[in-house]
Amino acid sequence: MKIKKLLTALPAFFFLVNVGLGQTIVGSAHDFSAQTWNTTQQICICCHTPHNADITIPDAPLWNHRSTTATFQLYTSPTFNGAATITQPSGSSKLCLSCHDGTVALENFGGTTNGTHFITTVNNVGTDLRNDHPISFVFDAALAAADPGLWNPTTHPSGIGTGTISQTMLFNNKLECASCHNVHNGTGIAHLLRKTNVASALCLTCHNK
Ligand code: HEC
Ligand code: HEC
Ligand code: HEC
Ligand code: HEC
Repeated sequence: MKIKKLLTALPAFFFLVNVGLGQTIVGSAHDFSAQTWNTTQQICICCHTPHNADITIPDAPLWNHRSTTATFQLYTSPTFNGAATITQPSGSSKLCLSCHDGTVALENFGGTTNGTHFITTVNNVGTDLRNDHPISFVFDAALAAADPGLWNPTTHPSGIGTGTISQTMLFNNKLECASCHNVHNGTGIAHLLRKTNVASALCLTCHNK
């Protein structure tokens, strides 16, 4: 074996191992430890706290960030079968929108209510969700039966771990922001995605097109 060839192959090998093991939030778009508005210089604290968490938001894990009180304009279209079950953002999506709708300051955590730094540019999803992929609606076998352009989530594998779409991507059977995104950058894929969207792999996980 030519040593030179081996040396060229090594970085590629470690790259693959690294991707396989997953990445972390450190250094990602959600690592706010170096932001001027975050005087704690910590990472998790902007979203979680070990004590005195806000238990008024359903399904929120030890939540420390102020929650949005906005009323959202919901996705609608004549061919959207999920219209029957769509609600105001629920579960983890409401947590995301507490920073991403642009109405609550980023440093409004741990009891702070008068922050002045708000999310900007493309990261500001806003309170009008009509131009975003629908969230907070039920995706079950009945929806897939009504729309043959969808895989049955209770039987179709997600390619994330070994489970089905229902088991690995849905929250109380609902599609949420975190169905597509990993808030902790667990995969290291751009835009905090849960799986690659090269050749639309993420979209084709659920859409049978
Ligand atoms: C930008 C906000 C944000 C930051 C920063 C953040 N989290 Fe989270 N975390 C969330 C949200 C939202 C959820 C619930 C939705 C989900 O699991 O995707 C969650 C869920 C969790 C859960 C429960 C579900 C699971 O994944 O096991 C744990 C444990 C957790 N976070 C730990 C941490 C730790 C430890 C840190 C710091 C190293 C951290 N988080 C930083 C937003 C954040
Ligand atoms: C504490 C506030 C906060 C919370 C809570 C939060 N985010 Fe973010 N997020 C941000 C900020 C600020 C940025 C922009 C960082 C930057 O300047 O690049 C961001 C960036 C992102 C990006 C873009 C990353 C990139 O590299 O393009 C995605 C995707 C994202 N967030 C998804 C989510 C999702 C999904 C949730 C809920 C599960 C969530 N965020 C919760 C504050 C938050
Ligand atoms: C059906 C999958 C899916 C859902 C649900 C979803 N996203 Fe995304 N999101 C994506 C993809 C894919 C991208 C990358 C877009 C690109 O490549 O241009 C993205 C990009 C982003 C970005 C980066 C800015 C940008 O436009 O490129 C932010 C911020 C973001 N999403 C936040 C959210 C929030 C908050 C929610 C819930 C309200 C959400 N996403 C729901 C798939 C999704
Ligand atoms: C976790 C599963 C899942 C993923 C991933 C996903 N979708 Fe969807 N998407 C759905 C479901 C379920 C619906 C609702 C379909 C319905 O009820 O008509 C939907 C709705 C839509 C609609 C609106 C359909 C209508 O009739 O108005 C479009 C367009 C769409 N998705 C495109 C995408 C694209 C593009 C991607 C990749 C960036 C993507 N989806 C990723 C599950 C998913």
